[in-house]
Amino acid sequence: MAIQIPRGTQDILPGVVEKWQFIENKAKEICNKYQYREIRTPIFENTELFLRGVGDTTDIVQKEMYSFQDRGGRNITLRPEGTASVVRSFAENKMFGNPTQPVKLYYLGPMFRYERPQAGRYRQFVQFGVEALGSMDPAIDAEVISLAMELYKSLGLKKLRLVVNSLGDNESRNAHRAALINHFQPRIGEFCSDCQKRLEKNPLRILDCKKDRDHELMKSAPSILEYLNEDSKQYFEKVKQYLSAMDMDYIVDPTLVRGLDYYNHTAFEIMSEAEGFGAITTLCGGGRYNGLVQEMGGPDTPGIGFALSIERLLSALEAEGINIEAEHSVDCYIIALGEEAKDYSVTLLQKLRTAGFSSERDYLNRKMKAQFKAAERIAAKYAIILGDDELKMGNIAVKNLETGEQTELSLDHFIDEFSKLCR
Ligand code: HAM
Repeated sequence: MAIQIPRGTQDILPGVVEKWQFIENKAKEICNKYQYREIRTPIFENTELFLRGVGDTTDIVQKEMYSFQDRGGRNITLRPEGTASVVRSFAENKMFGNPTQPVKLYYLGPMFRYERPQAGRYRQFVQFGVEALGSMDPAIDAEVISLAMELYKSLGLKKLRLVVNSLGDNESRNAHRAALINHFQPRIGEFCSDCQKRLEKNPLRILDCKKDRDHELMKSAPSILEYLNEDSKQYFEKVKQYLSAMDMDYIVDPTLVRGLDYYNHTAFEIMSEAEGFGAITTLCGGGRYNGLVQEMGGPDTPGIGFALSIERLLSALEAEGINIEAEHSVDCYIIALGEEAKDYSVTLLQKLRTAGFSSERDYLNRKMKAQFKAAERIAAKYAIILGDDELKMGNIAVKNLETGEQTELSLDHFIDEFSKLCR
């Protein structure tokens, strides 16, 4: 039996990969405008990083990690997300000492989660994310959100909903935590076994439970916004003020808690409101994680970021009927007839490529007509026709495949003359 691709993964083939490249380039361009610089961290990390970073009561850590022992007996995990790695690297490379502060980073690469595959949910997916470390100015929260929105808008998406919440600082979270325990404790027996464990360890996680989503106590659960202390309230007010100042519409949803443990203060998600988008509508998620750098062994440093997957971005584009042209351009195709011409085509192809032209030739010994067809199939702009007799006379024929116009260029000055023709 033929070997098949693993469940929840996909091949991105030529024809579609150009759409990915377009989006990736757009993301990099926007990061440059906002002054975020790329960071590349390993695809696997010590498992301990995610236990501490993402949180051991989260679904990601409990159910979704690809973890294994390497041949040296070390516990290794394929990264399920990027924030923990970036924060580890920030602390390990002492970026808190960089002359340029805050440290603004972005990443783009595959993440791995053992989830049940469905539309918009893969086991390997590509995240684009940013992290800003070292600033506790609410304006940077608004900047991070604006960067994500700009990527979507620049690609033409319109049916977007930005949802924000505040999870408050430690004091606010502790007060909320106590209220949640009081709320759920009397009837915790009606909840799943995971939620029963969550009650003491991290009751906020109950609000994010997929199994108990419809339990009546979920709707009446105490809202974090009622437990925000003055500082947290003021911080959240500023973030909202700045979002409005940047012309970003948003909705406050006090039930937005996010699926990772490191968040405090600002939490946000961007959803697609396009019809037919499917059950999973979250395109992007992020928030503030003051305290995580310290958790990773660095000095107390505030941080905020987001991540979004290219897979869901592509689904959103499809749902809104937006087509990114998969561009693939070829300058010329050499059509060689006769033995000498074929030999010479090796030299000429090399010269063309050295001069910067994307060029191709026939490698299947095809007849002239079939070589022209091959040139058209790859949408070459010019056919360069080499014949034994013409070469002897020092000429090369060039045909513009869009207009049908044919010109003779000299063999000796071909690259110069061809460059002029192309201009
Ligand atoms: P997250 O909400 O777990 O947050 O994931 C962020 C985004 O990754 C989601 O909104 C979605 O676009 C995409 N995503 C997650 N799982 C899948 C999947 N199985 N298939 C396809 N796409 C998926 C984080 O990962 C945080 N690290 C975000 C962050 C950065 N917070 C602060 N900084």
